[in-house]
Amino acid sequence: METKLEFVRSIESALGVSFGEDGDKVILVALTTSLAVIFGLIAFLWKRSGDRTKEIKPVVVPKAMQPLEEEDELDADPSKVKVTVFFGTQTGTAEGFAKALAEEIKARYEKAVVKVVDLDDYATDDEQYKEKLKKEALAFFMVATYGDGEPTDNAARFYKWFSEEKEGDPWLQQLSYGVFGLGNRQYEHFNKIGKVIDDQLCEQGAKRLIPFGLGDDDQCIEDDFSAWRDQLWPELDNILRDEESTPAVATPYTAAILEYRVVIHDSSAGLHENKQLNMMNGNASYDIQHPCVVNVAVQRELHTPESDRSCIHLEFDLAGTGIKYETGDHVGVYAENCEENVEEAARLLGQPLDLTFSIHADNEDGTPLGGSLPPPFPGPCTLRTALSRYADLLNPPKKTALVALAAHSSEPSEAERLRFLSSQQGKDDYSQWVVGSQRSLLEVLAEFPSAKPPLGVFFAAIAPRLLPRYYSISSSPRFVPNRVHVTSALVYGPTPTGRIHKGVCSTWMKNAVPLESSHESSQAPVFIRTSNFKLPADPSVPIVMIGPGTGLAPFRGFLQERYVLKEEGAQLGPALLFFGCRNRRMDFIYEDELTKYEDEGVISELIVAFSREGPQKEYVQHKMMEKAAQIWEMLSQEGYLYVCGDAKGMARDVHRSLHTIVQEQEKVSSSEAEAVVKKLQMNGRYLRDVW
Ligand SMILES: Cc1cc2nc3c(=O)[nH]c(=O)nc-3n(C[C@H](O)[C@H](O)[C@H](O)COP(=O)(O)OP(=O)(O)OC[C@H]3O[C@@H](n4cnc5c(N)ncnc54)[C@H](O)[C@@H]3O)c2cc1C
Ligand SMILES: NC(=O)c1ccc[n+]([C@@H]2O[C@H](COP(=O)([O-])OP(=O)(O)OC[C@H]3O[C@@H](n4cnc5c(N)ncnc54)[C@H](OP(=O)(O)O)[C@@H]3O)[C@@H](O)[C@H]2O)c1
Ligand SMILES: Cc1cc2nc3c(=O)[nH]c(=O)nc-3n(C[C@H](O)[C@H](O)[C@H](O)COP(=O)(O)O)c2cc1C
Repeated sequence: METKLEFVRSIESALGVSFGEDGDKVILVALTTSLAVIFGLIAFLWKRSGDRTKEIKPVVVPKAMQPLEEEDELDADPSKVKVTVFFGTQTGTAEGFAKALAEEIKARYEKAVVKVVDLDDYATDDEQYKEKLKKEALAFFMVATYGDGEPTDNAARFYKWFSEEKEGDPWLQQLSYGVFGLGNRQYEHFNKIGKVIDDQLCEQGAKRLIPFGLGDDDQCIEDDFSAWRDQLWPELDNILRDEESTPAVATPYTAAILEYRVVIHDSSAGLHENKQLNMMNGNASYDIQHPCVVNVAVQRELHTPESDRSCIHLEFDLAGTGIKYETGDHVGVYAENCEENVEEAARLLGQPLDLTFSIHADNEDGTPLGGSLPPPFPGPCTLRTALSRYADLLNPPKKTALVALAAHSSEPSEAERLRFLSSQQGKDDYSQWVVGSQRSLLEVLAEFPSAKPPLGVFFAAIAPRLLPRYYSISSSPRFVPNRVHVTSALVYGPTPTGRIHKGVCSTWMKNAVPLESSHESSQAPVFIRTSNFKLPADPSVPIVMIGPGTGLAPFRGFLQERYVLKEEGAQLGPALLFFGCRNRRMDFIYEDELTKYEDEGVISELIVAFSREGPQKEYVQHKMMEKAAQIWEMLSQEGYLYVCGDAKGMARDVHRSLHTIVQEQEKVSSSEAEAVVKKLQMNGRYLRDVW
């Protein structure tokens, strides 16, 4: 009966209604019967039918819910102080830090009423952002920088408004704040978003409680966050500690280890492996929370057999899904872990792969479990499904994961070593043994065989959720309306421990089975992410495209679009495409297509740098220097310059070359050249899609 009540509760919560106690039995029968039919039908359609592309609806990937009790608590007790912790995140780190900060503030200060807020959920428009921010007295911002010094998707709306909000008198004088930025020093615009928000808050009159925190995930960002947080407590003691109260936290604060409630199900009771498909919310559009399961229509290798690397051309079939995209957009792909890693994980956890279970963030009576548990993934499902779809098994574990592992190690020496690695004193060991040697979670589990965390702890506190990977779409919907093309370089190589790192998504794509060779084709939940990497509205405007390796991807889409425009009679302006690869016999991807487009006048010239053919490296930027006068002439005619590919090396070097071209061609000083380049960027005529 326990499972049945649980089932009714989950339906109530999914539908947002309560059926009451008396209705249980009738509703249970009606719901189980109708849902069994629906589940069966959808599972049938999704599983292995040849007609799966029809009637496709979004999958729901749960997003954290925002509790509403804080406002009530503040109204009821005027001595309470509201604290808001905002986060801007792409891959969850900033959200984790925001929640950890909130938990510790709650534990330290009785009078604090703390709320963690996704910046996107805070307000529906600029006006509301302003009105609500004016009412905040104490706020913290955990914000990551992405793309080319850009905000995360969930901070984009807030950032655009807030960074441009310059008019009038300072209007945030009532606010005390702190900003912790998340970034990586190897990127050109290190922590730009955090810095801009910090400066702007200060400019608008808010009081900076603590210097800007410069988180760098090239090193140990958890340590940066801890150090920043430690600076905060003396400041918060002044604001949030009552005179008469005992000193804040006599013993050092230790965060509780998060744990889901786990319900084991009878495997014969009927699996809801594809239950995610049944949690439709009527939402007709697809996004990161509502991806759409699509088939792989085409998959082929782009490198020649002579190459010792791999780059895959993949086509997702969009027919019947209603998915729309524009040339230059990104596609997000939820891939699955490969079988060997899933099996290894189950072995290390000491659990059978066919174990059927579900995880819950509430108690049996429906009250929340507390802490800041991420929303559970859909269940019941087998452990195989949970490990394949939802667990990040290959990234190095965070320190908080080591603490949770230590708590479940039966061998005291192992527990001690794990605690040391996660401690301040073990900082150097952690950074060398875990981060430096790229030890995966699986490798760490294997090194501590007595650590056998229960599944509720494993999925809540040890293995982060497996995240979607993004790809620059390498097609144009005007050329292939029902397809999204992807050009994916296989991540495959040894790590310092000797493990061969096989990238999750690129390996999945490498092994994907296309519809063209089997009805049992591979499928993945996908969604489109719009981008501003777009061709000029007027096709006669000159364009310069620079994309070595997989950086070619969006330009293939650009060329397809120009081809269609040309066929339709448009007058195309001059277009240069700089491509780079190692050797023409190995990795000159899409060579035939590119030369054909050149012959047909879709581009004026294809310029290729082969880095490993001659005695010296030749890169796209060297070729750019050879064409400096032509590039500058095109830019001077209101032309656009696009760069795509590796952010850490190539895009930086290309930026420097562009700077040199401007300086030499215009005969101006270095700072004047930089101003010209900046202006190009500001005007949206120097666009970068780099990662
Ligand atoms: C906006 C955007 C657009 C993108 N477009 C494209 C595209 O068009 N084509 C494309 O191929 N990629 C593209 N990428 C990169 C892509 O999203 C994935 O990061 C890439 O495919 C690797 O994912 P994976 O799951 O295979 O590897 P993961 O499992 O994520 O492994 C890669 C990570 O593992 C670590 N690692 C450990 N050992 C190694 C090793 N020996 N070699 C490399 N990494 C190692 C690194 O930290 C690396 O980040 C894009 C990324 C972004 C953000
Ligand atoms: N973050 C991720 O998940 C991820 C995923 C895929 C790729 N990448 C990275 O992105 C980069 C591109 O990968 P790819 O497979 O598409 O391309 P690639 O085949 O590795 O490189 C394409 C060409 O660019 C050259 N190149 C290397 N450094 C350069 C620089 N500083 N300036 C200009 N050209 C340069 C290469 O030359 P040489 O090799 O001969 O030096 C090669 O000729 C790689 O660095 C790869 O590690 C990252
Ligand atoms: C594709 C990509 C682009 C990035 N761009 C930048 C950047 O321009 N500047 C920077 O400081 N950090 C950059 N980073 C690093 C992230 O900000 C850093 O990994 C951060 O910890 C992510 O936080 P999140 O997990 O909350 O999203 C980038 C990371 C990725 C994967």
